[in-house]
Amino acid sequence: MRTSLRPWRAAATALATVLLVGSVAACGNSDTGGDAGSGSDKLVLGFSQVGAESGWRTANTTSIKEAAAEAGIELKFDDAQQKQENQIKAIRNYIQQKVDVIAFSPVVESGWDTVLKEAKDAGIPVILTDRAVDSADKSLYKTFLGSDFVKEGRLSGEWLVENKKSATGPVNIVELQGTTGSAPANDRKKGFAEAIAANPNLKIVASQSGDFTRAGGKQVMEQFLRANPKIDVLFAHNDDMGLGALEAITAAGKTPGKDITIITIDAVKDGMQALADGKFNFIAECSPLLGPQLMDLAKKVHAGEEVPPRIETEETTFTPEQAKEALPNRKY
Ligand code: AHR
Repeated sequence: MRTSLRPWRAAATALATVLLVGSVAACGNSDTGGDAGSGSDKLVLGFSQVGAESGWRTANTTSIKEAAAEAGIELKFDDAQQKQENQIKAIRNYIQQKVDVIAFSPVVESGWDTVLKEAKDAGIPVILTDRAVDSADKSLYKTFLGSDFVKEGRLSGEWLVENKKSATGPVNIVELQGTTGSAPANDRKKGFAEAIAANPNLKIVASQSGDFTRAGGKQVMEQFLRANPKIDVLFAHNDDMGLGALEAITAAGKTPGKDITIITIDAVKDGMQALADGKFNFIAECSPLLGPQLMDLAKKVHAGEEVPPRIETEETTFTPEQAKEALPNRKY
């Protein structure tokens, strides 16, 4: 959809692209490849997804694919399998292909400056979705679209402070963190710790990453249960880790939601079902339905329009009663 090349150059470009796409597919998992200049007049968006680690992520991928089709945008999609090096390769591939806009959800916060500068030098606007980067140079990307993760952690902590306000002795909390170095893990931890500081009885006695997966949540919770005879509260940085932890808690002969108060983040259907069933006690919502807003932003930045530097998603919280009400209409 861009420049017209002489036949031999077009053939050489196509061959180089095939080789490049092959190398990205070998480390990540690409749905689409080829040269962005292959004849379509559609806006071409290269998207690098973190992976498929959670129910949230699956819903996010679906939202992005459906919204691209709806908006008439040609989507090139790569699944990085939770590896930063795969995301960097995918972004370089999109630069080589001269896509119109690049968007990605950065698996971790640090280490993006070089590749973002390469995109900027190539004149390709970049949109961050879901997770932010810690680059000091904000001109390396056009905007960030996603959640306020610190707020999600804070709302979780504030609910716990209220729920345990009559506790007279220590309340032992274990924390299942998300992927080490990721924005949601860093920010949710921070927001939660700040909120629970209001009650000195509330103490985090163990905190470890379960990598946002069910298997990770189960495995780390088993370790927590072995090492800590008294666990009163579990704060899991997402539903999936909380759901994995349920298995470990039940296997240890304890009743989730009663013997151990469980707080999670996301509010995907499985998490909401656990909340409605009384196995979880509270969920702070994190919406994965970013696709339509992302497509709108992609069109705007491609047209050279100004966009706000940060666009936050509107979110809420759920108690078991609220989960029961919301479940029938839950989309993800
Ligand atoms: O970045 C958003 C987080 O990533 C979600 O809370 C989690 O489920 C996902 O894996």
